[in-house]
Amino acid sequence: MNIVVSNVKGGVGKTTTAMYLAAAGAERGWEPVTLVDADRQASSAEWFEARPVAGVDLVEAPSERTVARNMVGDGLVVVDTPPGDERIVRGALDRADAVVIPTRAGGVEFTRVDATLEMLGSATPRGLVITAARLGTNDLDETVQWWSQAKVPIWGIIPERVGIASGPESRLYREGLSLYADVLRKALRRRAR
Ligand SMILES: Nc1ncnc2c1ncn2[C@@H]1O[C@H](COP(=O)(O)OP(=O)(O)O)[C@@H](O)[C@H]1O
Ligand SMILES: [Mg+2]
Repeated sequence: MNIVVSNVKGGVGKTTTAMYLAAAGAERGWEPVTLVDADRQASSAEWFEARPVAGVDLVEAPSERTVARNMVGDGLVVVDTPPGDERIVRGALDRADAVVIPTRAGGVEFTRVDATLEMLGSATPRGLVITAARLGTNDLDETVQWWSQAKVPIWGIIPERVGIASGPESRLYREGLSLYADVLRKALRRRAR
């Protein structure tokens, strides 16, 4: 089962989402769980080095070839993709059973998500995760409305939390783990068979 976390834009929560999804998968009993870091910036790998996650193996795969090679195994594979590097991103998306697209709330983000959606085959299950969300704001409400009109499912809304923003400096945040477990459940339910 390959879940690819992708958005052509940087800083939207891809690495955070990939870490939490992998950890949530391990907690739910998936074995093995492999977190594939396809970003040359190696942000997942650095995070993992600072704070390994029980039940998750990390593989650095910063090329189309190495990503492809790591998306054939058993168990759960979560791929953290780079913001640029279209060949790597396409290589990962082509092998995805489900694609999770992290995005921030706000109008300027829509076109970035569209660019990501355009890279997907029509049959590939996909859903959005709105990261660092400020609950009760117009920005968030408008974003939710926009995507429901566009018929792109929202698999999760992750509130802005200091415990999540602190990344490798602290343990994975319990509330984040349970919210991302729900995202994982939705991705698995809609996966290609
Ligand atoms: N739910 C959240 N609450 C607060 N900060 C968040 C949340 N999700 C992500 N962030 C922060 O947003 C920044 C960008 O996230 P990151 O996962 O590195 O994005 P990307 O991999 O897309 O560049 C990081 O500082 C991260 O800690
Ligand atoms: Mg990243």
